[in-house]
Amino acid sequence: MTQRTTSGKKRTWEVFAPGRINLIGEHIDYQGGWVLPGAISLGQWIKATEIDGPSIQVKSPLGTWTYASSAQLCASDPQDKPSAFFKGVWSSFQKRHPLSSVGLEIEISGNLPLGAGLSASASLSAGLGQILQLVHHSPLSEEDLIQIAYETEREYVGTQCGYMDPYAVVKSKENHLLLLNNSDLSTQHIPCDLGPYKLVLFHTKVAHELSNSPYNKRRASVERAWELLKHLKPIDSVVEALPFFPIEVLEQHRDKLSETDYPLARFTLDEQLRVENAVKAINAKDYIALGALLNQSHQGLSELYQVSCPELDFMAEWSQRQTGVLGARMMGGGFGGCTLNLIHKDHLADWTLEALETYRQAYGITGAVYRVDLSDGICPGQ
Ligand code: GLA
Repeated sequence: MTQRTTSGKKRTWEVFAPGRINLIGEHIDYQGGWVLPGAISLGQWIKATEIDGPSIQVKSPLGTWTYASSAQLCASDPQDKPSAFFKGVWSSFQKRHPLSSVGLEIEISGNLPLGAGLSASASLSAGLGQILQLVHHSPLSEEDLIQIAYETEREYVGTQCGYMDPYAVVKSKENHLLLLNNSDLSTQHIPCDLGPYKLVLFHTKVAHELSNSPYNKRRASVERAWELLKHLKPIDSVVEALPFFPIEVLEQHRDKLSETDYPLARFTLDEQLRVENAVKAINAKDYIALGALLNQSHQGLSELYQVSCPELDFMAEWSQRQTGVLGARMMGGGFGGCTLNLIHKDHLADWTLEALETYRQAYGITGAVYRVDLSDGICPGQ
């Protein structure tokens, strides 16, 4: 992040807002569970330049927009999704700090694929929030920045998401995963040394659009399950959220849940345990155990939580059979986007060629492969 002021020239500010992966712990952030994401080196550059007059002018790969002023932006009625982000960030920022009338030209560029499940949304919201902090010299905290991105997604864009994405984008640390406990929002940086194994994304290019997907329905379903289960005695006094509910008690009361809600609840409990075991596996450098957990997570997401799609299933299952691959799963909200693969470095080149060719032959689509490194968030944690 930089701020430059050169005499005789307009002030400019620049922020790099990364995307994120999630190693494991899918769809349990909004249920109070643990998740294990990390920011990546792919991201978006957001550059703001002060201009004469109060207007806010935006140039981005998605289009260009001009708002007469910050006040007009907050009062606007967004007709498209990108505008909803701007309205969301400006309005959420204004709740915490008064907006000045400074005019800005904002340019957005970068190499983070959109709709790939790499949290381009939280990256954009948190990055824009950080730009507003810099422009206004505001004393807002990292938590405020996270909250701005979170409110933007939920209240303006319309996805009832959890805290994972803004936390990962803001607080991650290079070569670490961010263990986020969504019950109390405490975080821990877990050193992540994968030895000879690399984290590799395969982007199916199947559009991933959460606000219009059954994502919000999944959330409603597990909330219903938790409402019912939490009143069971003697469980209610100790268990704070569905992910920590004892599996044997769920199984005893399985017939009390609907056919739709039970598999989602079962996945939730299994996935929480997988996160705990993944942390142990990483600390023990037990890469085989880690890979097996990724495979199990995929199976649960596909069969129980039902947030996969044929293209993700095909590529995860294909990858799991390849030499040098320890684990593969769909990643993020689902319904498209990327698979995450744990691959030995010596097999990476062959895997990449074969993955692209196999996918092209099966679906006629040219996918994309990204090897990712864990990197710093916008405000890297210590
Ligand atoms: C999306 C949401 C996150 C999380 C994941 C699934 O990325 O934004 O909050 O729920 O889906 O794990």
